[in-house]
Amino acid sequence: MSIFYHESARTFHLTNGTVSYIMKVLPDGSLGQLYFGRAVRDREDFDYLLEMRSRPMSACVFEEDGRFSLEHCRQEYPSCGSTDFRRPALELRQENGSRVTAFAYRSHAVSAGKPALEGLPATYCEDPGEVETLTVCLEDALLGAELYLSYTIFAGESALARSARLENRGTQALHLTAAMSLCLDLPDRDYEFIHFSGAWSRERQMKVRTLEQGIQSVESARGHSSHNHNPFIMLRRPGTGEEEGEVLGFSLVYSGNFLAQAEVDTWDTTRVTLGINPFGFDWKLAPGERFQTPEAVMVYSGRGMGEMSRTFHRLYRSRLARGYWRDRPRPILINNWEATYFDFDEDKLVSIARAAREDGVELFVLDDGWFGARSSDRAGLGDWTANRDRLPNGVAGLARRIEDLGMRFGLWFEPEMVNKDSDLYRAHPDWILQTPGRRVSYGRNQLVLDFSRQEVVDCVYGMMAGILSGARVSYVKWDMNRSITEAYSAALPPDRQGEVCHRYILGVYDLYERLTAAFPEVLFESCASGGGRFDPGLLYYAPQGWVSDDSDAGERLKIQYGTSYCYPISSIGAHVSAIPNHQVNRSTPLATRANVAAFGTFGYELDLNRLTAGERQQVREQIAFMKQYRAVLQFGDFYRLRSPFQGNFTAWMSVSPDRRTALVGWYRTLSEANGPFRRVRLRGLDPDLCYTVDGGEPHYGDELMRVGLITTDSGAGECQPGERPICDFDSHIFVLEAYEEKNT
Ligand code: DGJ
Repeated sequence: MSIFYHESARTFHLTNGTVSYIMKVLPDGSLGQLYFGRAVRDREDFDYLLEMRSRPMSACVFEEDGRFSLEHCRQEYPSCGSTDFRRPALELRQENGSRVTAFAYRSHAVSAGKPALEGLPATYCEDPGEVETLTVCLEDALLGAELYLSYTIFAGESALARSARLENRGTQALHLTAAMSLCLDLPDRDYEFIHFSGAWSRERQMKVRTLEQGIQSVESARGHSSHNHNPFIMLRRPGTGEEEGEVLGFSLVYSGNFLAQAEVDTWDTTRVTLGINPFGFDWKLAPGERFQTPEAVMVYSGRGMGEMSRTFHRLYRSRLARGYWRDRPRPILINNWEATYFDFDEDKLVSIARAAREDGVELFVLDDGWFGARSSDRAGLGDWTANRDRLPNGVAGLARRIEDLGMRFGLWFEPEMVNKDSDLYRAHPDWILQTPGRRVSYGRNQLVLDFSRQEVVDCVYGMMAGILSGARVSYVKWDMNRSITEAYSAALPPDRQGEVCHRYILGVYDLYERLTAAFPEVLFESCASGGGRFDPGLLYYAPQGWVSDDSDAGERLKIQYGTSYCYPISSIGAHVSAIPNHQVNRSTPLATRANVAAFGTFGYELDLNRLTAGERQQVREQIAFMKQYRAVLQFGDFYRLRSPFQGNFTAWMSVSPDRRTALVGWYRTLSEANGPFRRVRLRGLDPDLCYTVDGGEPHYGDELMRVGLITTDSGAGECQPGERPICDFDSHIFVLEAYEEKNT
């Protein structure tokens, strides 16, 4: 792994033998982008990649040089107001009203390791030898502003992490109205733009569009990364599939308002920008202050989207997620939400937990409704003390009863919100986000606490820490059930109101940081009405997240498949719920509900007491299966085999790191009358190893990958031997085990 700097050509080359990233100081001192892709050998200069020519109607930087226009150079971190007319990475409003800036190279530094980002989640290293970081300092001499662009390259991974920091060392206040985390100018537009969009209960549906001249983007302005769009996009070459072709993945390690954009100019170059959404953003940088952008991670794959995803999975699973649970198989849980909603008391909870324990569940999670006057979603939020009508012995008493059953105990919070009907709101009506003189908007009958204020975060920390230290709580589900409106803070002056949304997220991160530090063995699961804040930012604190409130197995195929493009399986919260399903009123086989949830952190969201004896037996078998294979399912290499966005069948698989065990999930949405024979080509196996399939006839890895696995007769297991099951939402998990040593 090396970061080269060639003084004569003023060129940087970051490479690890897998990828190369090449930049150059341009004639005006700004930084130009020359190449990002598969590794190339280093050379003294790559100036031939800087194509310049004089073009009519172009504005040029220097009087004497008609060839040098920023409009026609690929840039690293473009400023605005000069000769480039595309959207900038940085926009600074100055005291005289100007937004023109000119940042020029001043110095750079290369170091082993990777510095943490102040107050923000980011990838990290465990050993400084794993990564190298280049920081380039540029300066706008007129303003006395310094810009630090940071690039980290990871040994053996086709990934780069980037961020920017602006320091105001001048004498005037500056207003940052755009400060992107990443800008990448590409030499052509021969890509498809892929994003993952949706809404509540149908998150991360894959959308593909051809890049065209003009701007295409996805964004959130809702105060959280949102159900609607995810801070992750891909640019792939036409024809790229799971295992072949070129694709670039761009992911923002951030949980608030974001913009992910591709701008294609009329010379067919493509500018990708990713960062905090400039819409509504206005950060005042007083003299002496600095601003750090969130981190963006970009991954190059020349071997299809599958390899890109596995790179993100490795990085995010082990160098973004942290803490005690990072590498540990996750406990099988039962959550009472869909079993009881608000209708429960201590005995009912214990009876749900007892049945679950009998079947092998390890963790009982008490969801919404245990605190304050919370008998519906109209009251109680903000009052984090046990509701004694429901829990006469408090949280500690219930936790004890659960632990006495031989299970761990988990608890739901929604720390950022308050109901008007709550003691917290009555004591501090000014602690909510609201704009003076205007009506405040409601979402799920609740208001948003002003997490940009330290005293608000401190108060919530005090209440939560009190509960977590007063009872044996092993897991926390952190929910967030509405978008942010009227984003105005009573604690900030008028010229800082554009900071509220980002400060709010910094407050969320601060609370997460303090809680995870104080309770290091507690497993945190993030949630925002399902997948409304499923992003890399929260993975830094909570190694798993509830991907969607939609627990229907059919819908979940798409949601989990879409989520897997960027996020590791160990982060995907997935539960078996009751039928008819509460979100779509659909009935799917119990086996399929479990077979879908198995490719996730796995749990149940129903009252097992309501199942038949036969179903309970099935549940026991599912849990035993999960305990045996969860390490492979959650931490193995994940391969997508067949897309639910393209037809009636879905297939995916996880392979153990030693490639001796593999689990193949195979799902058919609608049953077929007199259907064809079917097989699916597997991936990631050792071609020279012989595997048994479901303990039966062995096949070599090469057969399974090249000829394929016969799936024709597999079903939900609810038919007689030899009989082909006919039902909608049929599925099967094939278990492949290596049964002999390699035959090479
Ligand atoms: C939304 C979450 O996504 C659900 O799982 C549940 O926790 C409810 N909130 C509780 O209000």
